[in-house]
Amino acid sequence: MSQSILSHTEQIRAEAEQFLMGNYGSRDLCLVRGERTSVWDSDGNEYIDFLTGLAVASLGHCHPAVTEAICRQAAKLVHVSNLYLIEPQVELARLLVEHSPCDKAFFCNSGTEANEAAIKLARRYSFDLYGPGRADIISLENSFHGRTLGALSATGQEKYHKGFEPLVPGFHYSPINDSNAMRAKITPQTCAILVEPVQGEGGIHPCTPQFLRDLRAMCDKHDLLLIFDEVQCGLGRTGYLFTTDNHGVEPDMICLAKSLGSGVPIGALLAKKECASAFVQGTHAATFGGNPLACAAALATLHIIIEDNLPARARTLGDYFHRLLLKVSEEFTCIRELRIAGLMIGVELDFPAVEIVKALRECGVLAGIAGPNVLRFLPPLICEEAEIDRVARDLRSVLKKRAETEGS
Ligand SMILES: Cc1ncc(COP(=O)(O)O)c(C=O)c1O
Repeated sequence: MSQSILSHTEQIRAEAEQFLMGNYGSRDLCLVRGERTSVWDSDGNEYIDFLTGLAVASLGHCHPAVTEAICRQAAKLVHVSNLYLIEPQVELARLLVEHSPCDKAFFCNSGTEANEAAIKLARRYSFDLYGPGRADIISLENSFHGRTLGALSATGQEKYHKGFEPLVPGFHYSPINDSNAMRAKITPQTCAILVEPVQGEGGIHPCTPQFLRDLRAMCDKHDLLLIFDEVQCGLGRTGYLFTTDNHGVEPDMICLAKSLGSGVPIGALLAKKECASAFVQGTHAATFGGNPLACAAALATLHIIIEDNLPARARTLGDYFHRLLLKVSEEFTCIRELRIAGLMIGVELDFPAVEIVKALRECGVLAGIAGPNVLRFLPPLICEEAEIDRVARDLRSVLKKRAETEGS
């Protein structure tokens, strides 16, 4: 086929294959515009986005207040480095500290970097107090903490490790919601426990409140640091701004990223002042971390999440979606389990979920997977009940069609 008769999208796809590395596989949908809960592809087709760029666009796409903040800051000052005081960075740190159980913030660019910072801070804090040899970190089986080597080593899923060994030493994994197993893993070399309060990539598995309370007690007993990776589940998605607001358990550190900047890359590590004090001058840094542009986007985002009480909205809408999904699940035995934490939703099927993701896309709905058999919805926190109705209806019709085809 000659270049000239390829459609615009096909041309982009051909160039992507030619010039981009293959780590994202081949993609055929090219999204070019977004507004609220909708995105449009390069052929003008509209989709309702119930994946939000993997839990990033919590305010929907191109929220006017965030767009305005980005444009205003871009025209004023984009980057200066952390050699200088950055006004929006200080303001953002204050806002995060005021609303979290933590006292100090460090800014970086992504979730994996927030976890790297947490791992380094935990090790350094322990080193300063106890000397070398107490650097082990226990995370959970089936967890996901990122792709850089430290965060990858903390990730308890072998499929992500394969071919990248040797990993960073000192990481151990324990099953979720099994306090006894975790107790048995703690040794004199342990310095921290790292968990996602709701596991995202691993298939939407929430930690029970009792497990989180047990972890806190274990950490207090052995002077370990408790780190919550709230990169995916944080900032309102599960119905609370922070996990502490839901379960009352206060971690020593919280990792954030994803929705914090509404798509402008920014990550954050929040920490209690005792452990934060281990990051003395020269111990850690990021050139872009907390630059004026990223912080302006994050400030606008966070103000809206807090002032519009979007965590409560996520709770109500999550319950609403749950009720509709329960009805769907009563009709289709292929649904094995629903796992729901606010607007973080996993539908476990008895067949590969990618099939349903494709079928939903043909109906104009974007969803994702979390592990092979789990269909994942991460709707924007600003969506309406009518939009949830529509997605549940489309899911039902896609499952019905599949059941009819299977039966025929
Ligand atoms: C819980 C959790 N931590 C860390 C990460 C890594 O974030 P990033 O892709 O921004 O590095 C992710 C990404 O999916 C995540 O879900």
